[in-house]
Amino acid sequence: MRKKIVAGNWKMNNDINQTIALLDELIAKKPETTSAKLVVAPSFINLTTAVAKTNGTGIIVAAQNMHQAESGAFTGEVSADMLKSAHVNTVILGHSERRAYFGETNEILAKKVDTALAHGFTIIFCFGEELADRQSENHFAVVESQLREGIFHIAQENWANVVLAYEPVWAIGTGLTASPEQAQEMHAFIRNLIATAVSPAVAEATSILYGGSVKPDNAAEIFGKPDVDGGLIGGASLKADDFLGILKGIE
Ligand code: 13P
Repeated sequence: MRKKIVAGNWKMNNDINQTIALLDELIAKKPETTSAKLVVAPSFINLTTAVAKTNGTGIIVAAQNMHQAESGAFTGEVSADMLKSAHVNTVILGHSERRAYFGETNEILAKKVDTALAHGFTIIFCFGEELADRQSENHFAVVESQLREGIFHIAQENWANVVLAYEPVWAIGTGLTASPEQAQEMHAFIRNLIATAVSPAVAEATSILYGGSVKPDNAAEIFGKPDVDGGLIGGASLKADDFLGILKGIE
């Protein structure tokens, strides 16, 4: 059985106090047991606090990014070793905002993927087409090249540490969600691609999350699709009730 995952990407939101308050609420209100793994990705500066707070709760803390180099003169960046020493073992890579605003190319991302895997991270690898790509019906080709150039080079055994997150850029923070059918169509395409490029067993075992304006009222329908194994949530992960409402959608 593939892992089901509901992950909250907090982006550049929540100071230390807000981080503590949101985690307190999540911990207090989250169900005792759930079939999905709950992941939260606070900003770098709040990771240590989040790790301490979530200890023993089952909530996994992820970083939103990581530099590809081991260490050195990269002002403002955070390395794999730094994250590991803060007990962070999961990292989001390739988010469309990193690609669009910070120049992260498929080539850079392939290096980040290698560094993360070499340090034993679980990677949540994001990709997705822009509106113009979908309008020109180029979306499958764009997604395929993001995957081929960014992550398909890894050794087969490393796929156990990879989660994919399909996030169509036009659906992020816009209130426009891919329809459950559009999500399923793309997720099935991705799974087929993995089956051919890697192996059918890896395709079957790899969790593929959907991200882009997932809310409590559309989560169940999207998560109900056979190739959607959970979600990567932005805006709605900033409110405990909404985030947990989305988690309910996966049951
Ligand atoms: P929204 O849920 O705010 O659309 O953001 C999705 C996202 O970018 C998660 O990484």
